[in-house]
Amino acid sequence: MKIVLIGKNGQLGWEFQHILPALGNVVSLGREDLDVSDQHAVQKTLMELQPDLIINASAYTEVDLAETQMALANKINALSPGVMAEVARKINSIFIHYSTDYVFDGKASQPYTEKDAANPLNEYGKSKLLGEAAIAQAGDAYLILRTSWVYSLRGNSFVNKVLGWSRKNKTMKIVNDQFGSPTWATMLAEITCKVIADHTTDLLNGMRARHGIYHLTGNGCTSRYEWAKRILALDPNLTEQLVQTIEPVSSLEFPTPAVRPLFSALNCEKFTATFGLHPPDWAESLQQALRS
Ligand SMILES: NC(=O)c1ccc[n+]([C@@H]2O[C@H](COP(=O)([O-])OP(=O)(O)OC[C@H]3O[C@@H](n4cnc5c(N)ncnc54)[C@H](OP(=O)(O)O)[C@@H]3O)[C@@H](O)[C@H]2O)c1
Repeated sequence: MKIVLIGKNGQLGWEFQHILPALGNVVSLGREDLDVSDQHAVQKTLMELQPDLIINASAYTEVDLAETQMALANKINALSPGVMAEVARKINSIFIHYSTDYVFDGKASQPYTEKDAANPLNEYGKSKLLGEAAIAQAGDAYLILRTSWVYSLRGNSFVNKVLGWSRKNKTMKIVNDQFGSPTWATMLAEITCKVIADHTTDLLNGMRARHGIYHLTGNGCTSRYEWAKRILALDPNLTEQLVQTIEPVSSLEFPTPAVRPLFSALNCEKFTATFGLHPPDWAESLQQALRS
């Protein structure tokens, strides 16, 4: 199987780079190989490579900057994913793409299902929702996996930020009114690969029959405040921490250009029922991430 991975240097893309070779021949593309904001380049590259499977781990993920860079966010998050889905249909390839909990407005009190109406509060969420629609319109054997609060121990994730702050401050303020499901990038890549591996005998028809949107996050829901406390408790280098007090505060204390949904946990039952796979509890994955 020939696989093209787009966005190889992101949190998720990095994990895929290491796991995908077990499934086939992988061509991994970073920004330097393919500028995803250029739809023509996206189309040309994929037509030339003729993969059996396309995984798009690239995205415009600067949530606050997206408020003023709407056109660029739309190209990367909506127009190009639509082109990827269209090429995949033309060449009988499978297309796997990731979307976000930020398509919802956060007014629910129970984890969102795929049937709940989307109503994004910010430009990033709007661009990702447009991407879902573009893929659904152009695509055939596609999976859109909506995920949330993605972290890895590389780069600028919330986990690394909390660990970094804990080494510089005696008091930390963390918002306690945003609720969601932390999702370890390694878990997300692994469970996606399991879906592929479980269907290799007839991947194209298997994915055609199951195409659509699925929610896929770490199991369970927590607040940013409780998540931060758990990160600090599991810190493998506890003696480096200076922090003595973690103060729960309202999001109003940290105004940001983009409004975030206050509750964005996703119900993953459809994914489990369809693929027979259970994402592990978010806290279990966090422990694995910090202790590995
Ligand atoms: N992070 C979260 O909390 C979160 C939550 C919900 C959903 N998601 C979704 O999950 C998926 C994976 O997210 P992630 O956290 O792994 O994202 P990430 O770490 O920000 O990675 C995104 C990747 O996209 C690449 N990229 C951006 N613009 C590009 C362009 N014009 N051309 C080529 N590549 C470009 C970036 O390249 P550079 O490395 O060169 O910058 C980066 O490697 C995305 O679809 C995201 O929307 C993420």
